[in-house]
Amino acid sequence: MAAPETLRFAGDSLILIDQTRLPDTLTELTCTNVDQVHDAIRRLVVRGAPAIGIAAGYGVCLAVPQDEPADKERYRQAIEYLATSRPTAVNLFWALDRMRRIVDDTETADLKEALRAEAHQIHEEDRQMCHQIGEHGAPLLAACRNVLTHCNAGGLATSTWGTALAPIYHLHRDQKAPHVFADETRPLLQGGRLTAWELSQAGVAVTVITDSTAGSLMRQGKIDAVIVGADRISAAGDVANKIGTYSVAVLAKHHGLPMYVAAPTNTFDLTLPSGDEIPIEQRHRDEVACVGDVQIVPDAAGVLNPAFDVTPAELIAAIITERGVIRRPDQNSVAEHFRSADRR
Ligand code: MRU
Repeated sequence: MAAPETLRFAGDSLILIDQTRLPDTLTELTCTNVDQVHDAIRRLVVRGAPAIGIAAGYGVCLAVPQDEPADKERYRQAIEYLATSRPTAVNLFWALDRMRRIVDDTETADLKEALRAEAHQIHEEDRQMCHQIGEHGAPLLAACRNVLTHCNAGGLATSTWGTALAPIYHLHRDQKAPHVFADETRPLLQGGRLTAWELSQAGVAVTVITDSTAGSLMRQGKIDAVIVGADRISAAGDVANKIGTYSVAVLAKHHGLPMYVAAPTNTFDLTLPSGDEIPIEQRHRDEVACVGDVQIVPDAAGVLNPAFDVTPAELIAAIITERGVIRRPDQNSVAEHFRSADRR
């Protein structure tokens, strides 16, 4: 059986792999209205910056059922509502802006078809970008025996292949993939559950470690490079990604290891001068205070549960996008990356 897709749109339904149930159960969740898509994004049924954007694009299409006439107001309300599902990944707002432009610029009679075409286009572009990131990133990892990644920035977080895992899948086609250490990624275990699942499905050797093991492995020379994804990147090249990424970046710097970030250009938010302005999602205390159904933190204790942190650009060796590689990212090299691509 072919590997199931992270998300697909069929008829009047958005069908998602339910990532909250992996790796125990591979099951799909079908959304037929905007509320269900909002809930799926908020609960991390679908997660990872690019996948959230794609899901939201399709979600807008569900604002008006197939047998009812298009209604600009209902689409606009859906766009506003979906924008409240999660705050950090800028791909969500980028995709919704694209859908909003279609609503604004299209005659009502043609709107349904135009919105579907745009959502499919966002999805298709993501497939292409993941492959291009794989091509650009593969040479950076080609000489590595062991690579560390944090969270899940693989096929499950995108349409296919992922961002951070794309160079690894690229090398794997030639049987040259490095072995991957996957941080388990407390509290929701995207590394232990999702990265380990998808890499093993693909036949890439992967070992899960607790988040606190990474430093010790680096000290022993057992990690050659780190590669992660991103949820939002500022104009200065500061990167918001899953909580714990900053700690890994500091460790990599201390041990002289390259820290790579892989992300499509739609993950950049050039309106933000630095990472300090990136909104960081705070999630429910139970994600930390409970393991499964068992409470492990006393009621009287406070819990802090930020979903993301910011890694300053100076800790990052390179950012890999679908357009190429930004070495030593800063305000100038990021601006130049966008300028040179626009000139092409
Ligand atoms: O909370 P999540 O699981 O949506 O967080 C995902 C990440 O932090 C990923 O690393 C990031 O979105 C990049 S996905 C290609």
